[in-house]
Amino acid sequence: MKAQQTARLELSEQEMRDYGYKVVDAIVAHHLNQHKEKPVAQASRAEMDSLLRENVPENATAVDDVFNTVMEKVMPYTNIMSHPKFYSFVPGPSNYVSAMADALATGFNVFSGGWAASPAAAELEIVTINWLLNLYGFPKKRGGGIFTSGGSMANLTALITARNIKCGDDFSKAVIYLSDQAHSSNIKAIRVMGFRKEQIRLIPTDMEFKFSINKLKNAINKDRLEGWKPFCLLASAGTTNTGTVDQLTELSEIAKKEDLWFHIDGAYGGAAILSKNGKQLLKGVEKADSLTVDPHKWFYQPYEMGCLLVRNHKWLSGTFTEVPEYLKDVEGNKSEINFYDHGIQLTRRFRALKFYMSVKTFGLKAFREAVQYNFDLCEKVESILRKSAKWEVVSPATLAVINFRYHPIDQDLSEEELDALNSKISERVVNSREAMLVTTVLNGQIVLRMCLINPRTTLADVEETIALCEKMAE
Ligand SMILES: Cc1ncc(COP(=O)(O)O)c(C=O)c1O
Repeated sequence: MKAQQTARLELSEQEMRDYGYKVVDAIVAHHLNQHKEKPVAQASRAEMDSLLRENVPENATAVDDVFNTVMEKVMPYTNIMSHPKFYSFVPGPSNYVSAMADALATGFNVFSGGWAASPAAAELEIVTINWLLNLYGFPKKRGGGIFTSGGSMANLTALITARNIKCGDDFSKAVIYLSDQAHSSNIKAIRVMGFRKEQIRLIPTDMEFKFSINKLKNAINKDRLEGWKPFCLLASAGTTNTGTVDQLTELSEIAKKEDLWFHIDGAYGGAAILSKNGKQLLKGVEKADSLTVDPHKWFYQPYEMGCLLVRNHKWLSGTFTEVPEYLKDVEGNKSEINFYDHGIQLTRRFRALKFYMSVKTFGLKAFREAVQYNFDLCEKVESILRKSAKWEVVSPATLAVINFRYHPIDQDLSEEELDALNSKISERVVNSREAMLVTTVLNGQIVLRMCLINPRTTLADVEETIALCEKMAE
């Protein structure tokens, strides 16, 4: 009988080693060769069903067969988010050290919920959160935070905390302000929390896609006159569409004056603080009551890793602590943090390990250089586009995001024709599977959006993609 057929769910020592080496070999090959693959996966439900659908297997299958099935039928049908020509949404450049750290954390099945279960895991979360608090100029002693599955959960955790601190249990008249460029995860969080639509104020943005400060002030005043209770102002440090950073200092002053919680969603752009230009753009970030950053984006970590930082760690424990009788014995003393008291999850994976191991291995300097490289690359792309008679820059290189559209100066095209042309270019490029480049809408115009946060994307990669777009426009 094969080992995996026993009820202990075990492989023999040799099988475990062979299996592990195969997995590592596959991951290394992926890291070395992914740029030669096509970044876009396309398959219909019917195609996937015909490849993978089966009844639950009652009996064992040879380990190699299962592995081969996955390598042949699963992995080739996923987008390669770390591919140098994956430009859309927010790519996931990742890094090998962190991938191995995730394997270690999962291999040891570390429970990163409470201090007693794993003092070292809690300590590493404290250590790495402190690195981040320091980076963003948050209070050293009082500041705190937690790693989450991603930016959405970090925003949700922040807004629950904000509501608890500012409103307590009565939030029937509470209203929250965010711009029309804020990420949809915030609206989702607000809705999940049970707020009604009339408690959400989407403030229009100006020509640069920043908060319209005047409209925000008017909205707050009107709400107070009507008996609403403004409680939270949410700014973006790097909008997903254009990389725009809201006027953080000015907004923080409004929040202070109006006694509003000031949350900054830096899930996309937070990591820009590592570079000189980014630090300048993110001025005022240290004024936030809470800040979302998302290491699985521009800190080059594999999924899933988000992070919430707060000015006062007691805000989190005061919001999320529950002490049921079965956790009383493991509560520990006050200095020993139980991260299950700082957020929603009780059982949590050991996310801090990958951040710790990758930053230790490469040094923060390497991360700074990578972010600066991304900034510089995006600016070079902007100057190439501006010099061309075929392209129009719609939103300039900002935090390594650029929006542009095909608009040859010698062709007299209407807005509708330009929209159709740029949609066609994107569709054809994506269907070629050579690059992932989708559109977004800015000021009612359909534009191509390029997010250049992969440190392994070269200028030549982008030039090839622009040439491909031009070919697809014909
Ligand atoms: C500004 C911003 N906030 C929040 C999120 C949501 O983050 P996640 O996808 O990690 O949940 C994103 C994702 O792109 C984002 O760009």
